[in-house]
Amino acid sequence: NDSIFILAIESSCDDTSAAVLQNDKVLSNVVANQSVHVAFGGVVPELASRAHQQNMIPVVDQALRKAGIQKSQLSAIAFTQGPGLMGSLLVGSSFAKSLAMALSIPLIAVHHMQGHILAHFIDEEGYDKPEFPFLALTISGGHTQIIKVTDFFTMEIIGETTDDAVGEAFDKSAKILGLPYPGGPLVDKHAQLGNPKAFSFTKPKVPGLDFSFSGLKTQILYFIQKKVKENPKFIEENLNDICASIQNAIIEIIMEKLKMAVTQTAIKQIAIGGGVSANSGIRKTIKEAENKYGWKTYIPKFEYTTDNAAMIGIVGYYKYLNKQFEELNVVSKPRIEI
Ligand code: KG4
Ligand code: ZN
Repeated sequence: NDSIFILAIESSCDDTSAAVLQNDKVLSNVVANQSVHVAFGGVVPELASRAHQQNMIPVVDQALRKAGIQKSQLSAIAFTQGPGLMGSLLVGSSFAKSLAMALSIPLIAVHHMQGHILAHFIDEEGYDKPEFPFLALTISGGHTQIIKVTDFFTMEIIGETTDDAVGEAFDKSAKILGLPYPGGPLVDKHAQLGNPKAFSFTKPKVPGLDFSFSGLKTQILYFIQKKVKENPKFIEENLNDICASIQNAIIEIIMEKLKMAVTQTAIKQIAIGGGVSANSGIRKTIKEAENKYGWKTYIPKFEYTTDNAAMIGIVGYYKYLNKQFEELNVVSKPRIEI
């Protein structure tokens, strides 16, 4: 049996995840979320790395057990090299190195954002794989990029945020509204019950395919402060409409740039990835673009949109086929170009 079994580790931010892949199929994908950060309204790096240390072994054990795979069957270990929080990355890379050394199998370093993009190539019933070239829109808590993907490892960033990531725009807006961290999913939840045209916000003027979200955040802050001054109950009375309007503004900003990218590149295949692609409004709008603009769009399975090790595993699989292995002295990189 020529199957390749990859154990993948993802620990770039606040989720500890391990997955086992058999070729491009996911056998298991275990994610341990860290709840310690909620009280602080954001990820506390020091607490994140401590929690990774506690979670790593149980999460890997569970991934192997669910997959029904023995360590001795593994072909290689893939881990997230960056970008991310240094302390968090180090827990994952140290673990991956140790296990690769103990089992005498190859070590594969993976770029987190390549994981979000190549997650579309996980073999999953009901999900098509994009054809090259395609445009990837990566939207997460740390990234907002439009990437031209020519093949598995040829990717060019053609647009990106000049300040906040779109996930931050969601989370910071949620914070202004008094919603707990991470607020993105909560804004989404309330938005589904609200009127997206209730309040309007002006779109930032950013040249080309780049994005800016910090102006929107400031605009929302001043708007809310003014309204709350007039009516202290403004937020609770209008929460759904406020969330729907914020989400609508964010989606309009994204769609404007995506349309521009399609015109510039003449590529009509769009694949979205990253935690914010879990957003129901974005998923709906992207899907509608198929009929509206003649695009072919790809939205990953929900569990592969937020941070997970399966997406690291699929990159690991393609790197394995290319024999792109690392020495054990490979270093973690909190900042790393795609
Ligand atoms: O990719 P991800 O899990 O972690 C990073 O690499 O950043 O993305 C996390 C981000 C957070 O900002 C979170 O609020 C946002 O994705 N997010 C959402 C939704 N689900 C997650 N934002 C809006 N709507 C959602 N449904
Ligand atoms: Zn991510």
